[in-house]
Amino acid sequence: MSRILVTGGTGYIGSHTVVALQQAGHTPVIVDNLSNSNVRVLDQIEKITGEKPEFHEFDLCDEQRVRAFVAANPDISGIIHFAAYKAVGESVQQPLKYYHNNLFSLINLLNAYAGKPVNFVFSSSCTVYGQPDQLPVTETAQVKQAESPYGNTKQIAEEILSETAAAFDNYQVISLRYFNPVGAHESALIGELPLGVPQNLIPFITQSAIGKRGPITVFGDDYRTPDGSAIRDYIHVVDLASAHVAAIDLLEQGNPNGNYDVFNVGTGTGNSVLEVIRAFEASTGVKLDYQIGPRRAGDVEQVWGDVTKSTEELGWKAALGIEEMMQSAWKWEQYLKANPLS
Ligand code: UD1
Repeated sequence: MSRILVTGGTGYIGSHTVVALQQAGHTPVIVDNLSNSNVRVLDQIEKITGEKPEFHEFDLCDEQRVRAFVAANPDISGIIHFAAYKAVGESVQQPLKYYHNNLFSLINLLNAYAGKPVNFVFSSSCTVYGQPDQLPVTETAQVKQAESPYGNTKQIAEEILSETAAAFDNYQVISLRYFNPVGAHESALIGELPLGVPQNLIPFITQSAIGKRGPITVFGDDYRTPDGSAIRDYIHVVDLASAHVAAIDLLEQGNPNGNYDVFNVGTGTGNSVLEVIRAFEASTGVKLDYQIGPRRAGDVEQVWGDVTKSTEELGWKAALGIEEMMQSAWKWEQYLKANPLS
């Protein structure tokens, strides 16, 4: 049983991963500054697993706090690093806020663990591919010029990690490039908690369906796709969480691919915005109100991942489909209405 540091462990993907780690017999230790999450998530996790995770509230940009934590917890054998800002639009308005937070926190962690044997899993994104030249996109595809400071922090972080892993023998790193995480835990006790108006499609759909927002706007129906709307590879957050457990397990065994490795984490298939809207209606029985609007600046036309490498070398594959994604997201929205967490 290993103690795994989970930074950002009270967040959306972090909380599902904490549950998956506990259920796999690991002991997650959360560090989070609660800048975009709610401390009550810890009780929600306990309701699911029967175990309240250990929690430390501090900011990873505080180098002294990071060093003190590492000194006080010498038995941490793995790190899953989620903690980061992630709003694309905000990053364009406030680039330095993104570079400061997303990179200083990473550098502080890496420095504090320098010289110690560490298995490190990083939260990266398919945003590093931009609009790929070939679909499905494989891990060897060219990393394109980032569309936003947020995307650039992911690219720079991957470079920092691969160079650090090359410089320190006992550092083993895996970057997981997520496609579009959606859905919620089947218990509906944890899920996504967007602040303000959701920028992402699924939380906007569920909030519109429950009456919290007006009609959904489909951002563009003139793309070169079968129905004209943009295509993404939506991945159930519970599947995504289990990919982190698989990555920790692979690092614990010793990754034959070397000290730095990258995996796509998606389903391997794409769905258009209009297909998602129809899937939500079909799997929940709730009718959605939507309109077609202009394209959103910075959006790529279509992207979905080749998951051959994750299947064969990580030993992980998505098990849940679009119906489970939509049903669980809807169940979570209804739970939140009855039990507001904030
Ligand atoms: C976005 C980010 C991506 C980031 C991810 C994190 C951009 C350009 N990309 O992915 O870098 O890693 O979030 O969660 O912001 N859509 C609508 N109407 C809406 C909302 C979305 O039609 O109200 C469409 C979008 O145009 C897109 C699809 O739905 O085609 C998915 O959008 P979204 O959920 O925001 O994810 P991404 O843009 O793919």
